[in-house]
Amino acid sequence: MNTMNQAISEIGVVPVIKLNNPERDAAPLAKALCAGGVPVAEVTFRAAGAPLAIKVMKETCPDMIVGAGTVTTAAQIDEAIEAGAQFIVTPGMDEDLVKYAQEKKIAIYPGCTTPSDYHTALKYGLEVLKFFPAEQSGGLAKIKAMSAPFPQFKVMPTGGVSLKNLKEYLSSPIIAACGGSYMVSATLIDNQKWDEITDLCKQSREIVKEARA
Ligand code: 3PG
Repeated sequence: MNTMNQAISEIGVVPVIKLNNPERDAAPLAKALCAGGVPVAEVTFRAAGAPLAIKVMKETCPDMIVGAGTVTTAAQIDEAIEAGAQFIVTPGMDEDLVKYAQEKKIAIYPGCTTPSDYHTALKYGLEVLKFFPAEQSGGLAKIKAMSAPFPQFKVMPTGGVSLKNLKEYLSSPIIAACGGSYMVSATLIDNQKWDEITDLCKQSREIVKEARA
């Protein structure tokens, strides 16, 4: 795996973040994640302030790996790069976006859940795919079935991942890391529960270690 994929895989969990108030929340959130041993974030473009959130998180914790999620247009890839994003996540497989990200030399993790998606990913030499929405698409059983014809891919299941099923996913060598919003829910962020977020990150990291022991 390349260096960034390796680093994300070592952390094992990727918080999927929607920040409605990046001016107020991006800096303390970045600190809370890093304090919990999870120095990585997928900041989704579901909220208009995503580029600002990415910029502030990188400035606050320069060693943190910050990427952009829910990216659906090339213009958003440009905005994400401009803000300092180090990776792009798309909900589905859009070849135009994969090509564009590769032209711009930024990592992209497209959402893939079907054999056809995996065929397309092969064409672009991708190593790690987002498997989205994970639970709703068949969970680990489907990921294992897909890995039989496509053993070259590692996946980041996202969608329905929680502290309850994290260990099960991470126990499989096909899983690079799990994405999820459970440690950065809207309620936690809106109520500025930074200590609780740090605690959920610490619990997640413990599970990563147990699953891979
Ligand atoms: C995503 O965009 O990756 C998902 O919406 C996150 O799914 P979750 O909220 O079920 O963790």
